[in-house]
Amino acid sequence: MKFFKKGEDPKKQENTPSKPHPELQVISGSEISGGKTPQPGVQSQQQPQQNIVLPNIKYKIAIASGKGGVGKSTVATNLAISLAQNGFNVGLMDADAYGPSIPTMMGIQEKPVTSPERKLIPLIRHDIRLMSIGFMVPEEQAMIWRGPMLHSAIRQFLSDVEWGELDYLIIDLPPGTGDVALTLTQALPLTGAVIVTTPQDVALADVRRGVAMFERLGVPILGVIENMSYFLCPHCNEKTEIFRADGGKKTSERLGVAFLGDIPLDAEVCTAGDLGVPIVAGQPDSPQSSAFGSVVSELENVLIESDDDDELTIL
Ligand SMILES: Nc1ncnc2c1ncn2[C@@H]1O[C@H](COP(=O)(O)OP(=O)(O)O)[C@@H](O)[C@H]1O
Ligand SMILES: [Mg+2]
Repeated sequence: MKFFKKGEDPKKQENTPSKPHPELQVISGSEISGGKTPQPGVQSQQQPQQNIVLPNIKYKIAIASGKGGVGKSTVATNLAISLAQNGFNVGLMDADAYGPSIPTMMGIQEKPVTSPERKLIPLIRHDIRLMSIGFMVPEEQAMIWRGPMLHSAIRQFLSDVEWGELDYLIIDLPPGTGDVALTLTQALPLTGAVIVTTPQDVALADVRRGVAMFERLGVPILGVIENMSYFLCPHCNEKTEIFRADGGKKTSERLGVAFLGDIPLDAEVCTAGDLGVPIVAGQPDSPQSSAFGSVVSELENVLIESDDDDELTIL
């Protein structure tokens, strides 16, 4: 017998999807480390790989970086929330199979459930629809993905989520130019990629590699964001350039791509992510949040221009 709380509608309960997604448990340790069990619902490598279109999503934007630790996930979460604050319907997809961190940054502990059509229903936090590839593997398991398995998981992940109508889908890629970026860009026609960097020369060299990869794959580069750009004094709001100034801007100019703006290096940005309430959600009126707001305005301008270009091409 099932008990219902006072005020709960038993019929509604029956219709509400509550079972964990069967495929969430599919990727077990033995499969990760080399087991041969075929995965139900996962496309085999021999089948033709069709493009996944997601027609109800207007802009599909990958957030990429040449290397890890530059603040890609931090930027992805804060941009997504900032876009939602501007009134858009926004989804955030954590495709970083090697270090999914978006659920933590968004303060999510629970797992998604499935719809009657067996689609994964995104979790909602800070007005964002959220899905993470981290939900597909137990947290304590090492993310030792084999190439074909990663390929299948990413494709399944892309096609099995019930996003609904979205203005923006922000996709947090793993760092670098590896398998996930390749699979994702080949499976899903992206509006474009945004590259996150820090100002040091070593990071900027990776930006060039990232830009080259997306260009080879035919994915437009929407722009570069320089994160941890300067230190913002919490007392007087004075800017201190800790690293060499304007590296991201100059590199963007040299590569002929847009510079979307810079984000300060700031303890609050870091703490907010650790606590699961990104700074743009927790302190929307702070100078740090307005830095994210300016990046979003630039991004919107770039997209409007590229929409106009498309219309001109069609004419
Ligand atoms: N602008 C920033 N100021 C302070 N800390 C930051 C900033 N951006 C990112 N961080 C911190 O740096 C670490 C790495 O950021 P993360 O977004 O996980 O990077 P990535 O996704 O590129 O690996 C995290 O602890 C994050 O809170
Ligand atoms: Mg990350």
